[in-house]
Amino acid sequence: MARLEGKVALVTGAASGIGLACVERLAADGALVVGADVQAGPRSRAVRTAKLDVRDEPAVAELVAEIAREHGRLDSVVNAAGVAGGGPVHLLDQTGWDRVLDVNLKGTFLVCKHALAQLLKQAPRDGERGSIVNVASIEGLEGTAGGSAYNASKGGVVLLTKNLAIDYGRSGIRANAVCPGFIETPMLEGVLGSPMLAAVRDEIRHEHKLRRFGRPEEIASVVSFLVSADASFVSGQALAVDGGFLAGRDPHITELMGL
Ligand code: NAI
Repeated sequence: MARLEGKVALVTGAASGIGLACVERLAADGALVVGADVQAGPRSRAVRTAKLDVRDEPAVAELVAEIAREHGRLDSVVNAAGVAGGGPVHLLDQTGWDRVLDVNLKGTFLVCKHALAQLLKQAPRDGERGSIVNVASIEGLEGTAGGSAYNASKGGVVLLTKNLAIDYGRSGIRANAVCPGFIETPMLEGVLGSPMLAAVRDEIRHEHKLRRFGRPEEIASVVSFLVSADASFVSGQALAVDGGFLAGRDPHITELMGL
């Protein structure tokens, strides 16, 4: 039996990049997946992709209610909707700050809030009421030059996730964050795609000890594990999936030593 057989999943940010890869992987692993995104995406394995702005609380509440009405329950929630943004703080206007915090942190909070209300109502299945995975970032675990709003939002997501694990564990609900390194998606292209940034891009790629950027599927496979019964004792983690980026700095010295 496929490991997510019979599970009902909600994935935000489903139209692109990591969210889209999560839709495909969760569906391939047997889940019935409802996607949600502000933009229309390509055809996917989602049973449908709802138009949703994760900042819109009534719309989030309505989508969760619809899923419960149509499919009887909600087992897995993946918050992948997100935007890039930031800059040195003295140059960042409040609108830019609010945009990033509103989508990445408030949006994650709102989806968790309404999903949790549903999870708490339903009877446990296979020993748990449900599981949440929030897509944070390695930039939520350490600072980045010019990261400001983005790092603050993702650091917030990491701690929000740990709090969910504490508050809802006794109700049979697990919550984990995945913290991707730099992953080849439209977001990365938007941030580092300019030819002017070629040297920066190469330096960042080098810090991934596998010497490459990640692929969306390599995040989706970990997300699928985390929402599955294979991870039934995993909660409150912020798991870096980063090709070794956070293992430590590599200032090229072993290359001089012949490695
Ligand atoms: P992406 O830009 O390819 O996909 C993000 C999706 O979120 C888009 O489809 C977009 O329409 C949707 N979205 C944006 N604002 C929304 C809103 N208000 N409501 C609903 N949907 C909204 O980006 P990517 O790279 O796939 O990012 C997915 C998540 O992974 C984000 O949370 C991002 O911060 C995180 N991440 C990405 C990394 C990367 O290197 N690509 C690294 C670490 C984390």
